[in-house]
This record gives sequence, structure tokens and C-alpha cells, in this order.
Amino acid sequence: RSDGYDLWLRYDPLPPAERASYRLLLRSAFFAGDSGSMQAAREELQRGVGAMVGAAPIAVASLGNADLIVGTPAALPALKSLGLPLNAAGPEGFVLRRIAWKGRDVIVVAGNSDVGVLRGIFALLRRIQTGQPLESLNVVEAPRYALRLLNHWDNLDRTVERGYAGQSLWDWHKLPGWVDPRYTDYARANASVGINGAVLNNVNASAEILTPPYLEKVAAIAGVLRPWGVRTYLSARFTAPIAIGGLKTADPLDPQVQRWWRSKADSIYRLIPDFGGFLIKANSEGQPGPQDYGRSHADGANMIADALAPHGGTVMWRAFIYSPEEVDRARSAYDEFKPLDGKFRSNVILQVKNGPIDFQPREPFHPLFGQMPATRVGMEVQITKEYLGFATHLAFLGALWEEVLDSRTATPRARVAGEISALAGVANIGTDRNWTGSHFDQANWYAFGRLAWNPTLRSSDIAQEWSRMTWGNDRQVTETVVPMMLRSRDAVVDYMTPLGLTHLMATGHHYGPGPWVDDLERRDWNPTYYHRATRDGIGFDRTAGGSNAVSQYAGAVQHCWSSLECVPDRYLLWFHHVPWTKRLRSGRTLWADMVKRYDDGVSAVREMRRDWASLNGRIDAERYREVTAFLKIQEQEAKWWRDASIAYFQSINGLPLPPGHAPPE
Ligand code: GCU
Repeated sequence: RSDGYDLWLRYDPLPPAERASYRLLLRSAFFAGDSGSMQAAREELQRGVGAMVGAAPIAVASLGNADLIVGTPAALPALKSLGLPLNAAGPEGFVLRRIAWKGRDVIVVAGNSDVGVLRGIFALLRRIQTGQPLESLNVVEAPRYALRLLNHWDNLDRTVERGYAGQSLWDWHKLPGWVDPRYTDYARANASVGINGAVLNNVNASAEILTPPYLEKVAAIAGVLRPWGVRTYLSARFTAPIAIGGLKTADPLDPQVQRWWRSKADSIYRLIPDFGGFLIKANSEGQPGPQDYGRSHADGANMIADALAPHGGTVMWRAFIYSPEEVDRARSAYDEFKPLDGKFRSNVILQVKNGPIDFQPREPFHPLFGQMPATRVGMEVQITKEYLGFATHLAFLGALWEEVLDSRTATPRARVAGEISALAGVANIGTDRNWTGSHFDQANWYAFGRLAWNPTLRSSDIAQEWSRMTWGNDRQVTETVVPMMLRSRDAVVDYMTPLGLTHLMATGHHYGPGPWVDDLERRDWNPTYYHRATRDGIGFDRTAGGSNAVSQYAGAVQHCWSSLECVPDRYLLWFHHVPWTKRLRSGRTLWADMVKRYDDGVSAVREMRRDWASLNGRIDAERYREVTAFLKIQEQEAKWWRDASIAYFQSINGLPLPPGHAPPE
């Protein structure tokens, strides 16, 4: 298929020589157990190996003649005597090992749970897809974070907030009577990268999702996701007790309200015994919350956490709050939540966006990371590209997330990745044939899952894996596609918001440039609020002389970012208001450097177009053509960003264009 429906699970036939060698290792398989997850594992193995190698392993009923032995020690006690490092695999991980057993060389895929085994099968298939040898297979893996969730911003009318890939997958109208087979493919894709939960509905939540008819529909979806190791979660509206419960208040300290949430949780768990819990956006952008009743975020989160606790459920309480009264939007979440450290129940996760503003092409990491030692903190990233050119612009976000996860927090050795205990990604998935609105956006779904499983993976390795699985193992293709992906995100930063500028997108939809916009009802929505350009300089002063948001960072980080000499160029205008004529490290003035970066962003896209064109004939025509067309759109729009931004800033600073800048075409 060349419409992209198969994602990275294409299982294209391998070249004949490779086929033959894999075939010898995978003629037969013994599966211990028959749970839904084991059936899924068996079918996936047969589907994948059958397609790639030309013959699926024959399922055999006895160990004695199996090339591949698959199971848990509980189902297959013989595994216990092999000395496999299953302790290191944890509840969800796996061991892959080639081993001599009773005089024969076999491949063992083992886990402590059937879901772990299923993940092991996907890991094995990935190795075959990317042409790696299996002869000396010896792998043990366990996920770094226990919660690795997609957050769908899907409304019940099937529109998707910030969704650029069609309608919501969830066909509420036909559920539960009709359960679309596509839900299974969705679950397979998630399972293949280790995503283990999905919040089905928008954080701007309708209370209706918690009514009995909707819960029946949710239960039908949960039934499809379960064998694949994906638990179901819901976004809940804080005032649901009023909207659908007939109560007069949603005050978290009111006993009736507490009872309502408890009985709601009980009824959900009767339908969905492995229900994951609730995601809640409260007192944020007009959503109701505990502060409407004079209570704190901790009061609200804990009340709902108490309702879920008897069932083992989790509350993900979002920290995305800000108000126009604040001196600086970037300070808001820290100012609000830092004093609440230690006040949350143990089944609450404070879900914090990767940066302090809002999913921009580049932000410094959020100051709450590393500074809530007595609270479980999760990181929320956006897989859908609200501020990065929607589905047409190519921007590989693995690079962005790697940058955040790797950021040093307080001490030189502490990294953001070590300060969090969960990763959530706002999904980019919809009903488009290719799921994500473009072929390259599939890579962002893939990379999210891989990094949530193992945040120490390099984005370059992830890009390489994904490219081989998606575009094939042709070396020229990989060597062209991977560098394109790796520079793509910086290209977007350069043509949209270089040097630490942020939030300059046209308003509402956030597509295209709008740095001049200054008339919105909330001051903290205006691009001019963020860039603060004047005749003399540009940038948001967040040092002690300004909003002092930099003081929210610890130790060396604070020290460096406060200083004009130390702050990296990429965060310069995020923290400092800088004269246009100031010389930067490049030797150029700020103005000349900024113009050069806009130019560089456009050139990078032009080069991506050229590189992609060199693959004509090496990729199926259908996908080749679409990517070609999207890159053309991206180049036009990169120029639009550059020309509009330069013209606008020039109208403020009155400076001539620096020499060497290509005039608008
Ligand atoms: C952004 C986005 C909204 C979304 C919000 C959130 O502001 O534009 O659509 O609701 O983030 O994360 O809650």
C-alpha cells in the first residue's frame, strides 16, 4: 500500500538474500498462552514475518521443534531455568535472546506479562524490518516511564482541536454497536512503540463523556485497546457534577460533590476494570476549576484522586494556567504550583507542558521540572503541529523533545528526563488515510512513543529506524531522509521565530506570521506582548530588571540565562531585551543575524526540496508526489514568514536591510 495507512508497520518484502537468512531462524514458533495479548503477538509475528520473509512461522504445539519460543515464565516455567534477565524487564518490558536450548539454537521472546511479550515481538519485527542480524540477539528492555500516553483533543462532534488529519477516529454516533476495525490498527501502532494509554477526548472537555451512554461507547473502545497494552483514560470537566449530576456546586470540599465523583468512578470501573484515570484542565483558558470555589488546585486534584484511588486510577492535573493579570505569562505555572509541592496525593501527576508558554517551535524547558521534589510531575508535549506549520510543514519533533529531555536542570548532571515520571503527547491522529495528515508527521507519533519508552535514545537513531521502516532500506533514501528530518525543526525555528522569539503566529489558528497583531481581547495573546520590539531593540526582559522569570530556574541555569554573555543565542530574546545594534557571537549585529536566520530557514527548506527530488523513482509515486507538493508549500510559506517578519520588524526599527540578504521574490 502506498497511501500511508500502514504507517511504519509496512513489512515490505526483504531482498532475497536477507529473506533466506531470516527464514532459517524463524520457521516455527511456540507461543505459551492464549490471552488477547498473546493472540495479538502471534498474529503480528505471522503477519510481519510472512510479509517480509515470504513465509510466516508455523505455530507448533511443542517446544521441541520451535525456532522461536514466546511467553512468560508464568505460562512457561521452563523459561525460568534459562537465566534470562527478566528482573530488568519489569512488568512491561521484554527479553530477546538467541540461546542454545536442548541442543538447538532458538530465539526466545520473553516478558513478565503477555503485554511485555507483545512488545518484544514488535521489537523483534523492527529488527527484521531494519535488516539487523538476529544471530547474536541479546536484548533486555524496560520502559523508563510507567505512563506513556497519547492525549487526544477530540470533541464529541468529531472535530479535533488543533487536529490537522481529518476527523476524530472515535465514531461516537455508531459506537458501541459498530466498532471500527481501524481502532485495532490504531492500537497496534501504539503498541509497536510502547505507548500504553490514550486519553480519548479533549482537555476542553464536555461533561457528557461521563454519562452512561458515552461510557458504554468508551468501554467498547477500551475493549479493543486492552490486549495491545493501551489503557483508556478520559478528560473530565471539573463541573461535571453540576452539568450531568444535578448538583448545585462542584466545590471539591463539598461532601455531595465528593460522593458524586466516587460513585462516578465506581461506575466507570464496573464497565472498564483497567480504566486509567482522568486528565483535567481546570481554571485555565476559561475552564471551570476549584478556584471558582475559593479552593486550590491541590484541593481539586486530590478530591478526584481520592475517588479513583480505590481502583488504582490516576489524575493527570494540568499545570497549563496563566492570566492576563500576570506580569509575565511564562511565570504563571511556577508561581501557582511551586507552593503546592508536596500537597498532592500520590496518584496525582502534575502534567506540565515542555516549555513555559505553549508548544512553540523552541522554548527553554519549563521551570517546574526539577523543582517539585515532593510531587509526581509528567511532561506534556504536542505531537500535532499547532505552531509548527500544521501537517504540511516538515518538522521532525524528535529533535525538539530530545533537546528538552536532555536539558540540564539544577546541577550539571541533572536532566529534565530524570525529573519526570510520565510523558504525554497531544496526538496528531485523525481519519486521514495516512492517519497524521502527512507522511512525515507519522514520524512524530513514532518518535514520541520511542522517547517515552527510552528518553536516552538519540533522535537521529529514531529518525533512522523510522525512515527505514517507512521508506525502505535503500541506503540512498535513508541517507537523504534522515538528515532532512534532523535539520527540519531548526529550519522552522529559523523562519518563524529565530533567536528565542516566540508566539508570533497569526492569531486563533496559529498558522502563518502575525508579529504585528496587537488588538486581541487578552494582552497575553498578542504577538507584540511576546517580542516587545521597539525602535531600539527587541526581546522580553525576563531578568531581574524585567519580569524576573529567569529566577524560577535553579543554580547554574539561572545564572547563565540571566547573563547576556552566557545565554545561548537560541534563548537570547526569550530572556533579554537586546539593542538591534548589539554584536552577537557571530560578529553580526542582532538585526543582521536575525535577517540571516530568516534567510537560512528558507534555504534549509529549499535544500530539503532538492534532496527529496533526488529520490524520485526510489519511492512509490503516490507518497513521493505528496511529500514533493508539501515541501513546495513549505518553501512558499517559509518565504512568507521571512518576508513578513523582516518587513514588520524593519517598520519598527527603521534599519536598512543588511547586505547579502536576498530581497523578496
Ligand atoms: C493551546 C491551544 C488550545 C489548547 C490549550 C491547552 O493554547 O491553542 O487549543 O486548548 O493549548 O493546552 O489547553
